[in-house]
Amino acid sequence: MDRPLLLHVAVLLGLTALAVNAAQSAEPPQPDSARQQALVHLVRQDCGSCHGMRLTGGLGPALTPERLAEWPDDALVATIIHGRPGTAMPGWERFLNESEAGWIVARLKQGFPPLD
Ligand code: HEC
Repeated sequence: MDRPLLLHVAVLLGLTALAVNAAQSAEPPQPDSARQQALVHLVRQDCGSCHGMRLTGGLGPALTPERLAEWPDDALVATIIHGRPGTAMPGWERFLNESEAGWIVARLKQGFPPLD
């Protein structure tokens, strides 16, 4: 291998390492916009059947920003994914992955978007 080619390979390897690093330190992936709409429907309809159509409480507690503020995000994600054994709160792992549950938690803490 002559020198310019070696240099080229070294630069390419360096760039690849940088790209991998950037991908690892990036925010968790956001659901795409179609999936976000599906998640809003799921929360308003399925979660709403217990937490109230306006998410202000029913069989389950209110899922309002005021009520959820005291909980760390990962505890809420775990509640959504695994449910609360011994209560009516079911686990949603068959329908949601952790980043989708994280997206829902972030939206609930801001005031959940309406159905369009
Ligand atoms: C079958 C009824 C039911 C459904 C459906 C349901 N939940 Fe729950 N949920 C509950 C109950 C009951 C609790 C309270 C459990 C307890 O006593 O700790 C709860 C608790 C929670 C909590 C913890 C809040 C707190 O203040 O304790 C979160 C967050 C939550 N649910 C989110 C969701 C989401 C998001 C969905 C839809 C993906 C959902 N729930 C669907 C019944 C339900």
